[in-house]
Amino acid sequence: MNRFSLASLALAFPASVNAMLRFSCSQLVLDRLDPLVQPGSIPSGHVHQIVGGNAFNATMDPSLDLPQESTCTTCTFSEDHSNYWTANLYYRSRDGSLTRVPQMANQFLEGANGGMTIYYIQPYDGSSVTAFAPGFRMLVGNPMLREESDSPDSQMSSFRCFEENFGGENGAPGTGQDTRHFPTRPCPGGIRTNLFFPTCWDGVNLDTPDHKSHVAYPVGGTFEMNAPCPDSHPVKIPQLFFEIVWDTREFNDQSDWPEDGSQPFVFSFGDTTGYGQHGDYVFGWEGDSLQRAMDDNCNVACPTLRSQDVNTANQCTIPRSVDEEIDSGLSKLPGDNPIDP
Ligand SMILES: *[C@@H]1O[C@H](CO)[C@@H](O)[C@H](O)[C@H]1NC(C)=O
Repeated sequence: MNRFSLASLALAFPASVNAMLRFSCSQLVLDRLDPLVQPGSIPSGHVHQIVGGNAFNATMDPSLDLPQESTCTTCTFSEDHSNYWTANLYYRSRDGSLTRVPQMANQFLEGANGGMTIYYIQPYDGSSVTAFAPGFRMLVGNPMLREESDSPDSQMSSFRCFEENFGGENGAPGTGQDTRHFPTRPCPGGIRTNLFFPTCWDGVNLDTPDHKSHVAYPVGGTFEMNAPCPDSHPVKIPQLFFEIVWDTREFNDQSDWPEDGSQPFVFSFGDTTGYGQHGDYVFGWEGDSLQRAMDDNCNVACPTLRSQDVNTANQCTIPRSVDEEIDSGLSKLPGDNPIDP
C-alpha cells in the first residue's frame, strides 16, 4: 500500500460535493519555452502547451507583476493571469513520422480552443486554505521517470482511456480505471491526463531551486482524506489540479501503430511510458481574488470572481518565440529529444 493510492483520489469527485474552482483555460501558445526550469532559454529542451495570461515569455522574472504585465488571459476567470503548462503529446506512426496530438475542450466547458481544465480544490473537511502568493511557482512530476515509483512524481499523474463519447461513463479522475502510464489500447474518445500538485507549503519560500522542496504532500494519508500537512510544510494550500484531454481519435488505426504492438504516443521530451508526465505553475491572480474565491467556498461557478466568455478567452494568444515546425511531418521531436525507450 502506498500513501498516494490513486483509488483514494476518487473521493475528489463528483465535483458537486466539494468547494472548488473548475474552469477552462484555452491554448495561449505552443512553444519550446520553459521559464521555470530553463529561464531565458530560447529554445528550451522540449515543446510545451501553455495556457493563462499573455505575459508568459522565456524569462518571467519572479518579481514580475503578472496581473500588471498581462493584458489578457485564456482562462474563464479573467482575474487569473497565472500560467500553467505541460509537455505536449506526439503520435509516432509506423514509418516513424511524428504528428502533434491536438487537445479538446473539457466535456463540461465546451468551446475552448484546446488548452486544459484547471481545478483549485479546497480541503474536504471544510477548513480554510491559504491561497498562493505573488511570485509563487511550483512543478509536479519528473520528466526523467520511465517506470512506476513510490515517489509522488509518478503517483500524482494519471491517464484515462476515454470510451466513445467522453461523457459521464468515463468517470472521475483517479478512479480504478486510471493508469500511471499511457493507455495500451486505442481510446475511442481520446486520452485524458491528470496532474495533482502538492497541497502543503513551507509558508516561507515562494519557490526553491528544484521548484518542489517548498511544497509537500500530506502525511499519513491523502488530501482527500484530510490527512495533515507535515510539520516542515504546515500551511494548507488549495489542491491545484490539471486536466488535459488529448484528441487521439484520428490516431486509432492500429495497423499504423508499432509492429510490436506497443502504443504509439510519446511526450515531447521523448517519453513513451507516460511516467515522466509533469506540469508547471506560475501564480498570477489579481490582488486577493483567489483567496476571496477560496473563502467564499465557490463551487465551480464563483460570483465573487470576474468571468469572460470562451470566445474572448480563445482570442488571447501570443506568437511563438521559436520558429520551427512542431505540428506534423516531423522525423524527430523538436529539440531532437531521443525517443526513450
Ligand atoms: C519577458 O517580459 C518581461 C516583462 O515584459 C521583459 O522585461 C523581458 O525582457 C521579456 N523576456 C523576453 C525573453 O522576451
